[in-house]
Parts: sequence; C-alpha cells; structure tokens
Amino acid sequence: MIDKHDAYDEVLAILDQTAKLLGWEEQDYLRLKYPEREMKVSIPVEMDDGSLQIFEGYRVQHSNLLGPYKGGIRYHQSIDLSEIRTLAAWMTFKCAVVNLPFGGGKGGIKVDVTELSKSELERLTRAYTNMIYPIVGPDTDIPAPDVNTNAETMAWFMDTYSSLRGEPTPAVVTGKPIELGGSLGRADATGLGIKLMVREICKKHKLAFKGARIAIQGCGNVGRSAAKHLHRSGCKIVALSDVSGGIYQEEGLDIEEILKFLSEETGRLLQDYYSPGIRRIPREELLIQDVDILIPAALGHQITGELAPQIKARLIVEGANAPTTIEGDKMLAKKGVIIVPDILANSGGIIVSYFEWIQNLYSLKWEEYDINQKLETIMVEAFNKVWDEAEKYSTSLRQGAYLIALDRLITAAKMKDLEQQTIHEYRHSIQSVHSY
Ligand SMILES: NC(=O)c1ccc[n+]([C@@H]2O[C@H](COP(=O)([O-])OP(=O)(O)OC[C@H]3O[C@@H](n4cnc5c(N)ncnc54)[C@H](O)[C@@H]3O)[C@@H](O)[C@H]2O)c1
Repeated sequence: MIDKHDAYDEVLAILDQTAKLLGWEEQDYLRLKYPEREMKVSIPVEMDDGSLQIFEGYRVQHSNLLGPYKGGIRYHQSIDLSEIRTLAAWMTFKCAVVNLPFGGGKGGIKVDVTELSKSELERLTRAYTNMIYPIVGPDTDIPAPDVNTNAETMAWFMDTYSSLRGEPTPAVVTGKPIELGGSLGRADATGLGIKLMVREICKKHKLAFKGARIAIQGCGNVGRSAAKHLHRSGCKIVALSDVSGGIYQEEGLDIEEILKFLSEETGRLLQDYYSPGIRRIPREELLIQDVDILIPAALGHQITGELAPQIKARLIVEGANAPTTIEGDKMLAKKGVIIVPDILANSGGIIVSYFEWIQNLYSLKWEEYDINQKLETIMVEAFNKVWDEAEKYSTSLRQGAYLIALDRLITAAKMKDLEQQTIHEYRHSIQSVHSY
C-alpha cells in the first residue's frame, strides 16, 4: 500500500496505528521509525565509448532486530532514497510476518537499464558491490534480485564480493543461478505461494478452490508462475493481461499453451497470442472482470479509489507489491472484498531465498519437493496466524499481518532492551562491589 508521494509517512502511520492497537507505547517501537543505516554512493562507470558516467546508488538497512538485513536491489530511473527506505521497512514487516530470522533492507541504482549495454550493466553492478562492500555480507546484509535485476546480476555481485573477501561467499546474495549456488524452487516460489494463499482463503470463505474463476494482471515471473500453479490445481484462469493488453475466455484459458508462447526465452507478449475462443480486452479492464478471485501481479498502485467500486471479485490476493492504494483499500473494505495482503501473499520468494541462504551457509543441496513442502508449512502457518489475529481484532487481513509483524518486532526490541538493562545492572553491581 505504498503511495509514492509520501511513501515513508505511510510506514510511520502504519507503525503508530498498529502499535496503538497492540497497546505498545511509542518508546517501545521508536527505533522502527528510523532506518538503522542509509548509504548513498556515487558510482563511477566507464561506458563502452570510453566516457565516464556517475550513477547514484543506495543501500538502506531498516532493521536487524530479527536477523541480518535482507532485501532486493532495484535498478530504475525513478527510484530515490525515500522509495528505497520505504521498501526496506516493508521488508522488515514481510520477514517478520512469516517469521523468518531476517531484518529488512533494500538497495537500488538510479539507472535506465534500457540505455546501458550488458557490459556496462556488469561494470555498474561490480562497482556498486565494491562501494557497498563494507556493509553487506552473509551474516549482515544479504541482497537479492528485484525490479530489472536478475540471477545474472546476483552472479556479478557474488563474484565481486568473493574477490574482495578473498574466498567464495555464495551466501552473500540469494536469487543466484542454480549453477552458482541458487536454490531449486526459487524461480517459482512467489507464484507457488500465491496459489497456496488462494487455496487457504477459498477454504475460509467456503468457495470451491477447484473451478474458482480467476483473473491475473501481469505475466512476468509472478503472474506466469501463479497462473501455472493455479491452473494445475484445477482453477479456471479466465483472464490474463500484460503490458500489451489482456485476453479473456469464459471456459478458461489454455494456460499451458499460453505459458509456452510467453516463455522468457521468446520474450513474446500477449498481444501476439491467438487462439479461437479468446476475446481481447484492454489491459485496464482486467481488474474489473466478473471473477471470483483477482490477482494483481504486475505493478503497484493499480487498484485505486476510483477503480475499486468497479471491482467484482470477492477475493483479492496481492501478488505485486503495493498494488492497492490507501483509498482503494478503504473502498474495497466498504464493499466487503477480502484482501490477502502483499506482505503475506507474495512472501514465497523471500522464504525460498531464506532456504537458499541456509543451503549456501552449510553447503547443502535440498530437493525441490522438500523446498516446496517447507514453503507450504511456513506460508500456511503464517496465513492462519494472520487470519486469527484479524478475527481477534475484528480487522482486515492486512491489519492482521501488520499486527503479527509488529508484535514480533517490538517483543524482540523489548528483549534486547531488557538485556541491555540487565548488563547495565550487572556492571553497576560489579562496580559497587569494587568500591567497597
Ligand atoms: N519476482 C518475485 O519473486 C517477486 C516477489 C515479491 C513481489 N514481487 C512483485 O510482484 C510484481 C511483479 O513482479 P515480477 O517479478 O513478476 O515482474 P516482471 O517484470 O517479471 O513482470 C511484470 C509483468 O507486468 C506486466 N505489466 C506491466 N505493466 C502492466 C500493465 N499496465 N498492465 C498489465 N500488465 C502490466 C508486464 O508486461 C509483465 O508481464 C512487482 O510488484 C514485484 O515487486 C515479485
């Protein structure tokens, strides 16, 4: 639910509102209002034509109350420190809601990737790694891919970090190629997690999971893999869209064929897909189709206050980060639409990143079946906890997720403070003994 204009204010408002519900004082969660560390770097890169360009990069470490900072690295021309700071805080909540031993961090470079060659992008990534080297590491801060970065970017990052450290250090990043220590199941984890969340919310609302009619916005990593898993579980994907437009088929789209057509290697778009029986819809209309379940899995800020009254789905499972604006959220609540919020629904990726990190640290290789089983255990448990919390406070699942996350974070903070206090008291008592 990030609003780009006052993104971090939104984090602060959620902190205040949630802590109040939990009965905590501001002193108890004050430290969560301030990112623990923010690094801004000016990255010099030699371009292919021999000229030098300077790019602005960031790494924000919001909180390590629950473990090392964890969060992706985003390359985009529009990012700024405020956005990265907000996304870092969001990672703190996401890790806390699914109970991972990670804190929250985020990084990024202000760059339009379409204007750089591959070798320029590699030099940029390596120079950025060099500059943030002092504050990252397998025990301190573990980056991952995000918008416009991928497994290859992580390979460059890991290679540079390992050279600087003088030893192979695969656990410094997750989302690596399998051949370099990446985890089986990582590429599909977010989509698989979304399927699990759809299944669980259907159970709670006594809606048949098999045969449920679903619309998915976005055919990227998340949308494609969610469509695949839901289709294979018997759901009917009736509408799908990407940046080029949308398609609709009342009796359910042939997802296997569409996925083959759209595969990453082909780089093809939906506008070029044809099959008898499909109807083309403008991409904006995907979200207002008459379906049981809607999965926004493309961009942020799609379900606005203006659009929300037109939404016909009873259930929304947020695949993208922050697809619903604050106004949109309020309108949907009034209509009685139930939302499984982003920090829970799309956490499959971070959970399998956690598995990748463990495998790297202990030189293990887990089977994909075991990884998926562990993912399911964590996500279903988190879903049920969020559900119970929302019931207990008669509130939304989104607020329930914040309640779970914040309670874990504040409890950890209090325990640390207690420890400090105990150490202080101990030192004081020693001093008293010596002074006799
Ligand atoms: N990849 C992950 O594991 C992961 C994990 C958690 C959250 N997310 C979030 O999920 C969202 C999607 O991530 P992704 O990795 O699939 O990205 P991606 O870049 O692989 O795919 C984005 C998709 O959205 C489509 N799209 C762009 N503009 C659109 C529009 N106006 N209407 C319809 N479709 C449009 C693109 O054509 C593409 O199919 C992002 O918000 C991301 O932050 C991703």
